[in-house]
Parts: sequence; C-alpha cells; structure tokens
Amino acid sequence: MHCPVKKAEEYSPRMQQIDWQPEWSFDIYSIDSQHQKLLELINQLLTFVSADREPVSLAEPLQGLLEYTQYHFDFEEKYFELYDFRATSDHCREHQQFKDRIAAIISNQNSELSGQDLAELIAWLQDWLVGHIQGSDREYLELFLEHNVR
Ligand SMILES: [Fe+2]
Ligand SMILES: [Fe+2]
Repeated sequence: MHCPVKKAEEYSPRMQQIDWQPEWSFDIYSIDSQHQKLLELINQLLTFVSADREPVSLAEPLQGLLEYTQYHFDFEEKYFELYDFRATSDHCREHQQFKDRIAAIISNQNSELSGQDLAELIAWLQDWLVGHIQGSDREYLELFLEHNVR
C-alpha cells in the first residue's frame, strides 16, 4: 500500500522508524510483547506526517498510545508492589512523567502539531522508550525472573 507521506529521510533525519532490536528483549513474553507494541504505536505516529506539512491532529493516536502505556505501566507496577521492588518510587515517577507529557499534548490545542513539533515528539517518545527499556526496566529483570513472571 502506498501512502501520500513524505519519506522519513526527506523530512528530517530523526523522522524514522525504530526497529525492535533482539538485545532489548528480557525473555519475558508479556513484557517483551508490550514493549514491542509500544514501539509500534510510537512508530505509527510517523504515518501522520503529511506531505504538505499541514498541522495534523494527533489526539486519537496519542490517546491510543496513552491507554496502552497506562496498561503496560500498570502491569509492571502491579509486580513492583507484589515483589517489593526496591526502586518502585523512582520507576513510577519516570512512568508518570512519560504519561504526563503525552497527556499534555493531547489536551493542548486538540493535539495539532506542526511537522517539526511532531518530529521532535516522535524522537522524544522513541528515545524515552528505548532508554527506559534498557535502563530502568532492566533493574527489575532479575526480580521478575526470580518470581517466574511470564
Ligand atoms: Fe516497560
Ligand atoms: Fe517501566
């Protein structure tokens, strides 16, 4: 299928999909599939870049991203509580900041974003997710494996 969107590289060097890398996996099916889904939802925002660079409304896709993000964070936080994860409060604060940023855009001017704002937003979401998976999320990996989270 061909969509009338500018190719990422014509638009901005940061407007590109990030492919899931095997080394980001935890070998915990639930967590890995949720992380992959989150990355997919963020990558999908790239399809909203219009060729004429008109501002686009992202309220709907961002709402979808926010809802799935909430589901994933709740999933992790449920186990933090259950297994008394030592870094719970710092980790939950990071989760909250991510959700707050998305919620702020949704409530701001019907989520109409210029191409540049969109490029920056997508890059930020991608960087945050990958950084969080490789950083803070790895801190609970051993604990989750010990408790046989699947
Ligand atoms: Fe996570
Ligand atoms: Fe997390």
